[in-house]
Amino acid sequence: MTRKLFVTTALPYANGPFHIGHVMEYIQADTWVRFQRMQGHDVHFVCADDAHGAPIMIAAEKAGMTPQQFVAGIAAGRKPYLDGFHIAFDHWHSTDAPENHALAQDIYRALRKNELIEARTIEQFFDPDKGMFLPDRFIKGECPKCGAKDQYGDNCEVCGAVYAPTDLKQPYSALSGATPVLKTSEHFFFKLSDPRCVEFLEAWTQDGRLQPEVANKVKEWFTRDAAGQVGLGDWDISRDAPYFGIEIPDAPGKYFYVWLDAPVGYLAALQARLQQLGIDLDRYLADPAVEQVHFIGKDIVTFHTLFWPAMLKFSGRKVPDRVFVHGHLTVSGEKMSKSRGTGISPLRYLELGFNAEWLRYYIAAKLNARVEDLDFNPEDFVARVNSDLVGKYINIASRAAGFLTKRFDGRLSADVGVEGRVLLDGLRAHAPTVHDLYETREFGKALREVMLLADRVNEFVDQHKPWELAKQAGMDAALHDTCTVCIEAFRLLTLYLKPVLPKLAADVEAFLRIAPLQWADSARALGHHQIAAYQHLLQRVDAKQLEALFEPPPAAAAPAPALPGGEAVAPEITVDDFFRVDLRIAKIVNAEAVDGSTKLLRLTLDVGEGRHRNVFSGIAANYRPEQLVGKLTVMVANLAPRKMKFGVSEGMVLAASHADEKSTPGVYVLEPFPGAVPGMRVR
Ligand code: MSP
Ligand code: ZN
Repeated sequence: MTRKLFVTTALPYANGPFHIGHVMEYIQADTWVRFQRMQGHDVHFVCADDAHGAPIMIAAEKAGMTPQQFVAGIAAGRKPYLDGFHIAFDHWHSTDAPENHALAQDIYRALRKNELIEARTIEQFFDPDKGMFLPDRFIKGECPKCGAKDQYGDNCEVCGAVYAPTDLKQPYSALSGATPVLKTSEHFFFKLSDPRCVEFLEAWTQDGRLQPEVANKVKEWFTRDAAGQVGLGDWDISRDAPYFGIEIPDAPGKYFYVWLDAPVGYLAALQARLQQLGIDLDRYLADPAVEQVHFIGKDIVTFHTLFWPAMLKFSGRKVPDRVFVHGHLTVSGEKMSKSRGTGISPLRYLELGFNAEWLRYYIAAKLNARVEDLDFNPEDFVARVNSDLVGKYINIASRAAGFLTKRFDGRLSADVGVEGRVLLDGLRAHAPTVHDLYETREFGKALREVMLLADRVNEFVDQHKPWELAKQAGMDAALHDTCTVCIEAFRLLTLYLKPVLPKLAADVEAFLRIAPLQWADSARALGHHQIAAYQHLLQRVDAKQLEALFEPPPAAAAPAPALPGGEAVAPEITVDDFFRVDLRIAKIVNAEAVDGSTKLLRLTLDVGEGRHRNVFSGIAANYRPEQLVGKLTVMVANLAPRKMKFGVSEGMVLAASHADEKSTPGVYVLEPFPGAVPGMRVR
C-alpha cells in the first residue's frame, strides 16, 4: 500500500546561516524521505524559516533593517546549503508568510472557543528607554548568589545559579543599559493544566509513538503531587508590542509568542506545497492514511510533545503521528555553541571542494534511532570514507568495469554460473533487513550491513582474480562472468546506499545505463545489458585537506575575567567574523559642536575615498573640536548609515572607555602611529 507521508524538520531560526548541526538534521530526514520515495510512497517534505521573536527583531534593528528585510536576507542564503548537501525539500517556506498568520489565528480562535485560553495579569521587567518588555535573555545584572557582574536574567555563567530575572542585583537592560522597571501586563495563557489536555497528552505521549527514552522523559510532566496536581503548567503564549510576530485576534498590541506560531509553520509550509499541486490542505489532512512526521533535536522536545500536539488536538486538527528526536552533533568532542560557532562551516566544506556525499555517508554511518549525541571526528571521517565507502564499495566497480569495456564491449554475460548466482541471491536476500533498518532510522546499522555485503563481493573478486583470468588464454567466459557478477553486485549495493548517496547513485545509474533505482529493483537482475565506460565515481579524502576545514580551535571557555575596563571579554569570534568589520584610517578634516547636543561632535572624515564622511561621535564631553582637527584616527567604514536627529552618521570613530562611563568617565579616541595615511585598512 502506498503510504502518504507529511515530513518536516525543525524550522531553523532565521537569525543566521545553517551550522553543521542543522545540516545533520536535514541529512537524517532527507535520507529517510528518499528511502520512502524509493518504496514508491507519496511524500511531502517541507521546512521553513522560523522568522519571529524578540531576538530576531533586535538583531534586525541592530543591522539597520526591518525584521522582514532581515529574515529575507537569511532566507536568500539557504539554497547553496540545501542544494550543496542534496537536501530535497519539496518546499521551503516562512513562518511570516500569510498562510501562517491565518492558520495561527485560526488555531488560537478554536482554542479560545474551547475555553482553553485564559487572560492573566503578570508582572515583568520593562525597559523604559526602549519602551518594551524585556525577554529574560536581555536582562543582565549581578548574580544574586556569587555577585558576578553582567550575568543573564535566568542563570549565572560563573557559579551556575539559576534564578528569576527579578532576583538579579543592579539589573540593567542589555539593549539600552537602562534600569528595568517592573510593569504589569495582560498575557494570554494556554491552559495545558486543564484535565482535558492532561488526559489527552498523557495518552498521546505514552501510546508508543515516541521513542522510549523520549516518552519516559515526558512522563515526568504527568507525575502527580500529594494534592493530585500534575507538573504541567499553563503556557504563556502572548507577548506585548513591539514584537515581530503574528497579531492575536481581538487583542490590539498583543502578539503570539514565537513558539506558538513556529510549529504552525509546518502546516503553512505544507499548505503552500499542496497549493502548488492544486490540493487543499484540510482535505489532504482529513485523509486518515496521512502520517505526520516531525524530525527534531533533543532540545525542543517539550514544544513538540506537549504544546504542539495539544494545540492541534484542541483546535480540532490532526495530531502528529511520529516525532523523531535526534541527539546533537559535536565536533571533535566539542559542543557547538551559538556564540562560538561550530568548528566546521558547512559552506566552507563545500567551497573547499569536499564531496557532500562523504558527509552524508559519515553522518548516516553514525546515526541510530536513539537520542544520542554524535561526534564528527576528523580521523574517523577519513577512515570511514576512504576504507569503507571508496575502499570497499566503489572498488567493486573499478575492479570489474575496465575488463568489461575493453574485452566485452561493455556487455554483461547472460548467465553467471552457480557461485555468482549464490552470491547475488545472497545480496538480494538482504533487502528486507536493510529496508527495516532504514525504516526504523537505524542508518548506522543499515550501512554496516551493506559494507558486510561489500566484503562478500570483494572476497569473491579475490578468489576469482579477474586480473589473472584476463592474462590466461581460454578464460574469457570466466572473466566475463566474474565481472558481470561484480557489476550486478555493485548495482544492488548502490540501490541499498541510494537514500544516503543520491548523487553518487545517479552517477552509477548513468554508468550502468539504467532507470533511477527503486527499492523493488533489488529483486531484478540486469541480465543481458550493455553498460557505459567506467569513469571514476568517487575520490578519497585527502587527510591533509581536512586541516583547512577546521576553523581555529576555540580557546578554553574559562569564565571571562573582568578586565580593568570593567567589562568581561565578549564571546569569541573567528577571524572571518573580524574581517567583516572594515576598519580604516581616517583624517579628521573638521570637527564642530552639534547644536542641541551636549554629547555629540560632528566630525568630517577623509578615508581616501574622494569624498568626505559625516560622523557623529559621543565625545563632546572629552574633546574640544580644535583638539581633533587634522588628527588621524580609526573608523568603522562599513557600518550601515544611521539616521540621527541631527543628520545621517556614516560610520563610527573608535575610542576607549570604561564599561560604566557614569562612575568612571573618560573617552579616549584612538590615534595611529606616524606613517599611517587615510584609507589604510586596519587589522
Ligand atoms: N526555531 C526553533 C525550532 C522551531 S520548530 C517549529 C529552533 N531552531 S534552531 O535553529 O535553534 O534549531 C533547529 C534544529 O536544529 C533543531 O531541531 C535543533 O535541535 C537542531 N540542532 C541545533 N543544534 C544542533 C546540533 N549541534 N546537532 C544536531 N542538531 C542541532 O530550535
Ligand atoms: Zn553566580
